[in-house]
Amino acid sequence: MRMLGISGSLRVGSHNRALLAAAATDLPPGVELREWRGLDMLPAYSEDFDGRLAAPSVRALRRALAESDAVLIATPEYNHSIPGALKNALDWASRPHPENALRAKPVAVIGASTGVFGAIWAQAELRKVLNAIGADVVDTALPVPTAATAFTAEGRLRDRRLAGALRDIIDELATLGLARAA
Ligand code: FNR
Repeated sequence: MRMLGISGSLRVGSHNRALLAAAATDLPPGVELREWRGLDMLPAYSEDFDGRLAAPSVRALRRALAESDAVLIATPEYNHSIPGALKNALDWASRPHPENALRAKPVAVIGASTGVFGAIWAQAELRKVLNAIGADVVDTALPVPTAATAFTAEGRLRDRRLAGALRDIIDELATLGLARAA
């Protein structure tokens, strides 16, 4: 079962990238999690450059989504919403409408922030956008607050309750992904 991970942060030392890595340390049997790192290669969305004129980076995004059975997005919160680069990628992914690469695709949203709320509003915003696109969105949030101290040296979540909640979300996403792959 192929799960595609997307970090909404481009930063090399991103806590959200670390959260995807933490998820990868505790996957159910038969599940492979691969991070897609092309977010900063995408041009700003324009209908004038979609369809036959879509850039190679856009085609690569759509192909990566189409070849995945499920998608796990870890997003930071930028000004109480999702980062523009992530929204831009989702706008590309949402076309052509309605038969886009995310349609009915199982997607779960998690997030980390250095503050005390764990990007909770950004996760809600992201689920709203994914629902608009027609994805099969897991309705559970995973807010990881105070992210600067949230991970162990081995890359796992320090808080056992949070680690368990992350595993629960991955299990739910994997179950949906397996049903879709079957
Ligand atoms: C932030 N940050 C932030 N945090 C928050 O809890 N609510 C917010 O609205 C914002 N807004 C915001 C805007 C911008 C432009 C930046 C750069 C940052 C802080 C942010 O959550 C924190 O830097 C995270 O660590 C970013 O995620 P990564 O890069 O560590 O994955």
